[in-house]
Amino acid sequence: MFNNKTMLDRFSALETPFYFYDLDLLEQTLDAAKKAADKRGFHIHYALKANFNERILALIQSKGFGADCVSGNEVQKSIDMGFDASKITFAGVGKSDKEIIAALQHHIFAFNVESIQEMEVINDLAQRLGVTANVSLRINPNIDAHTHHYITTGLDENKFGVPNSELEKAASVLRGCEAVNLVGLHFHVGSQILDMNVFKSLCVKVNEWKNWFEERGTYIKVLNVGGGLGVDYKAPDENPIPDFEAYFDVFDKFLERNSKQEVHFELGRALVAQCGSLVSKVLYTKSGIKKHFLIVDAGMTELMRPALYQAYHKIERIGEDKGEVVLNYDVVGPICESSDCFGKEVELPRCQRGDLIAIRTAGAYGEVMASRYNLREEIRYVYSEV
Ligand code: LLP
Repeated sequence: MFNNKTMLDRFSALETPFYFYDLDLLEQTLDAAKKAADKRGFHIHYALKANFNERILALIQSKGFGADCVSGNEVQKSIDMGFDASKITFAGVGKSDKEIIAALQHHIFAFNVESIQEMEVINDLAQRLGVTANVSLRINPNIDAHTHHYITTGLDENKFGVPNSELEKAASVLRGCEAVNLVGLHFHVGSQILDMNVFKSLCVKVNEWKNWFEERGTYIKVLNVGGGLGVDYKAPDENPIPDFEAYFDVFDKFLERNSKQEVHFELGRALVAQCGSLVSKVLYTKSGIKKHFLIVDAGMTELMRPALYQAYHKIERIGEDKGEVVLNYDVVGPICESSDCFGKEVELPRCQRGDLIAIRTAGAYGEVMASRYNLREEIRYVYSEV
């Protein structure tokens, strides 16, 4: 995608580093996801935490997606961007009273409730406001998502959701919460999941718990199975759009439900990861005894994933390949931390000061996780069609 002169000419005029967002690819991805979901009557709430850049949100909103929020500010942002309150969910283990009150006043679709105590607090605040809160109870299904341990969320040892052992109590507390209306069950097992068997196991658990509630006379309208579908970090050009058909098919096949029960998803990464790249300029090249270094002007402050999760992102030199000798570079940033490294032994044509590189698949959990550490500049971004 970046090995052409047009991209190089356009980017050379811009101040680096910046995020480049390909809005055409985003649109194609959203259309593919929507088509595959609509076909099966599934609902998608976009997980804002992956990227809340305004143009991205505007496009997602315009396609009719709902919003999955994890803070009061995300709820407010989705309202400001035109998302329908009736399609907004509010999740997170630590919702403050102020955040809960604001969400109640907006009459959002549902709170994903993570503990019995939180349910009681929501009930109390809703009663005081004279409203009813719709909630989905988040159940920790104890499933290993086989992904990085930092982004595994569905195991007993994780802080998320109500553990199986507490469900009996949760159900009885719920019955006493007059200002709370249970609309659904919520599950999320982790992120960057490519093994469809993980989702199949999730379906089995969802069926069990739905039946458990129904046997006790509680009807469950919404089955919210969270997000987590992964993307191809290794080959972004070969696989720019995740296989939404295969993903939704698993749920279609294995989730037991009647025609009135709704299935909801909270996809983040799968919708936005491939449309974003971090573009950075080579400041210096350095060759030690054993290593070649590329010192670039972006750092872990702009894209934290490699430093935080040892995450792989494909790195390319922008512009035509002129048949230069290929070297193995450690691509590092300017931040005073050894973990400020985007990739080790990255094969690239011999680079020079001033060359531009693209760090691919950075549209999800990139810009949103940027920091001002070292008093770095505010992150910049450009869009494909400007
Ligand atoms: N729903 C819940 C309850 C979540 O916790 C998450 C992500 C999502 C939905 C969206 O998951 P996705 O479809 O994007 O996988 N910063 C990490 C990822 C953290 C994910 C946190 N939860 C990274 O850069 O890999």
